[in-house]
Amino acid sequence: MDITTAITRQDCESLDQADPLHAFAAEFEPGEKGTLYFDANSVGAMPRAARANLDRLLSEWRRMRRRGWSESDWLDAPRRLGAKLAPILGASADEVIVCDTTSVNLFKALAAALALNPGRNRIVSEAATFPSDLYVAQELVRAFPGTAIDLVDEGGAIDPAVDDRTAVVYLSQVDYRNATRHDISTITRRAHERGAMTVWDLSHGAGAVPGDLDASGADFAVGCGYKYLCGGPGAPAWMFVARRHQDKVRPLLAGWMGHNDPFVFARDYTPGAGMKRFLVGTPAVLANAAMEAACDIWARVAPAAVFAKHASLGDLIVRLVDQGAAGPGVSLASSRESDRRGGFVALRHPHAPQVVAALGAANVIASYRPPDSIRFGLSALYHRHVEVWDAIERLAQILARETWRDPRFAAGKKI
Ligand SMILES: Cc1ncc(COP(=O)(O)O)c(C=O)c1O
Repeated sequence: MDITTAITRQDCESLDQADPLHAFAAEFEPGEKGTLYFDANSVGAMPRAARANLDRLLSEWRRMRRRGWSESDWLDAPRRLGAKLAPILGASADEVIVCDTTSVNLFKALAAALALNPGRNRIVSEAATFPSDLYVAQELVRAFPGTAIDLVDEGGAIDPAVDDRTAVVYLSQVDYRNATRHDISTITRRAHERGAMTVWDLSHGAGAVPGDLDASGADFAVGCGYKYLCGGPGAPAWMFVARRHQDKVRPLLAGWMGHNDPFVFARDYTPGAGMKRFLVGTPAVLANAAMEAACDIWARVAPAAVFAKHASLGDLIVRLVDQGAAGPGVSLASSRESDRRGGFVALRHPHAPQVVAALGAANVIASYRPPDSIRFGLSALYHRHVEVWDAIERLAQILARETWRDPRFAAGKKI
């Protein structure tokens, strides 16, 4: 892309024609005609294969009932789906499982990291991290007298907060309000130099930007299945534990599915080998069937192509803002540099809730986060550059005509 001249819609068409991932869009249901969905950061598009997978499951349920546990592949799904996701996370197949929610997996990971680092009793995190994650950490330390959380204030450096009392540095890779992305490798290396472990929440990065979990030396990671990963509303989350730690952890949240041999119904808990011990209860079989349709796509894409196209879509928004094509009063809340951004691009506007509501009425689905952020969640698998162009053009019209002032939009959009 020539960055000295203004970008045109035709340039976007050329980018789409040259897109090595263009065929993947056909693997997703199109959604409502005329609607431009930029909420990949919330609920990603529906893989077409989800329907067939769910049909198969419903049929198995009808025919097999209890026998499904032994005669179908229900029980193996957490491990099987995890192995298919591993490449896009930069992990190995035996380091990822798909199960539970991100909050629950975070609890397991934080508890494990604390236990693996005895003699240290502090969790370093950020005050502005995703609230659910903070709630998990707050209540975990309450249960273990002597442990505490040190919260770094917004914009503060993580490094100075890590000392010889720090057991674990727990961070979201990407800020959920403005997409600012931490460098997992650098922070992990510095944490390790000081004897601390790392737990990463990749919810706003996985499936969009590199996680490089193995290469970065990360100890633990978790993330949502329903956002960029396209596992469906309420999809199970995923959990990564570096192979070197797996067999050293005695899970705090233990359950029969993590037992070495659940169906002997032993009185005492013996943790299973490897990632198995991080399972707790019965897998969400129906949800896994939908999620597997997405995992099957992730197992086939080249991660580098996903990250390159994602960067290109985000850079396009940056350029359109720069050339004044996004309308008056709007500015960039995210970094200009693609390697400093996560899965979405956030724009700033003083009346963001009303603007997001007006965008919705113009069939552009974006999202709002306080105080003034308008988020466009981008997917390399199914978004085209021309769709970004069209969405930003509709935004410009709304801002130029001040449509957002319409009383219909006064209450704004909360989610
Ligand atoms: C960064 C982050 N962490 C955690 C969560 C919560 O995930 P779950 O509802 O699966 O626990 C979210 C949900 O949006 C999130 O964005």
